Amino acid sequence: VLSRTLDARPVGAIGLGCMGMTFAYAADPASDDPAAVVDRALDLGVTVLDTADVYGPFSNEELLGKVLGGRREAAFLATKCGLVVTRPEPLQVTPDGRPEHVRAAADGSLRRLGVDTIDLFQLHRVDPAVPLEDTWGAMAELVAAGKVRAVGMSEVTVDQLDRAAAIHPVAAVQSELSLWSREPLDGVVGWCERHGATFIAYSPLGRGFLTGAITAATAFGPADFRSQLPRFTPAARAANQAIVAALAAVAARHGAAPGQVALAWVLAQSRSIVAIPGTRRVARLEENAAAAELRLTAADLAELTAAPLPEQTRY
Ligand SMILES: NC(=O)c1ccc[n+]([C@@H]2O[C@H](COP(=O)([O-])OP(=O)(O)OC[C@H]3O[C@@H](n4cnc5c(N)ncnc54)[C@H](OP(=O)(O)O)[C@@H]3O)[C@@H](O)[C@H]2O)c1
Repeated sequence: VLSRTLDARPVGAIGLGCMGMTFAYAADPASDDPAAVVDRALDLGVTVLDTADVYGPFSNEELLGKVLGGRREAAFLATKCGLVVTRPEPLQVTPDGRPEHVRAAADGSLRRLGVDTIDLFQLHRVDPAVPLEDTWGAMAELVAAGKVRAVGMSEVTVDQLDRAAAIHPVAAVQSELSLWSREPLDGVVGWCERHGATFIAYSPLGRGFLTGAITAATAFGPADFRSQLPRFTPAARAANQAIVAALAAVAARHGAAPGQVALAWVLAQSRSIVAIPGTRRVARLEENAAAAELRLTAADLAELTAAPLPEQTRY
């Protein structure tokens, strides 16, 4: 369902986060063929496909380039630059916002994705060692060169957005947003509304937690990034089940799944929001896509907003 816009193009309110297909989350034998997941996504109007060079590194873009096949025009391809892996396991990444890195990264992404133009090129993290204006200026030059159509940023403040927008329009801001990660509602989402930018909500299912599929007993090995996250210690997972319970109560009234309510809550926060849940299973993709049709009432939204805040931090 193409009900939102990104860089003035119609896109699905629900997109597809591709990260977990090759990165961050441990391999799962229940996963479907990624080609089938991407194909079904495009069939359903789940058009924003989100990846990054650092996912793998590089294997995520390579995979997407391979499975996209002849359907490039049906997709809105969003990738990212500006983070490099410094240790694979346990995973450690570090920012690199040097203009020369940005330029080389774009060429690498174009090659791996097998496309002439990237629809949205996002700065994954601001590099504190490089003036933002230098990094963003290099990204703007990629638009002028026709290598990317639009540029965006991830995990930034309103002040950083103002500085970037003074140089070149910010088409999209990507940050974590869900019932247990509401920080962008305090300013960044409003900035997007005022500037005609799209807010791309990442980890809208709380890295799977808000679906109810993860309990205190779920085992996360060292290959799974969640083993490093404070919110995913067994004690935090036990305490945070109260948030899943709030989603499940609303879901029961709608005959929906808790994860669908989590996504509908995100989309209800602003018409500027596109949510990009990640999944490696066709059935889950279909469930997530259907959340775009779920209309929560004002009472549902108030009940969810009153849900307990999470134990522990995001990172
Ligand atoms: N900009 C950034 O810094 C940043 C950071 C993190 C993520 N992202 C982007 O955001 C995308 C999504 O975030 P995410 O993958 O971290 O978290 P998420 O979308 O909140 O959750 C993904 C997890 O939920 C599971 N899942 C998905 N749909 C489900 C369903 N219907 N029922 C039960 N479980 C379900 C997935 O498992 P399966 O895969 O096994 O189905 C996966 O483990 C990423 O792919 C990436 O593109 C960006």
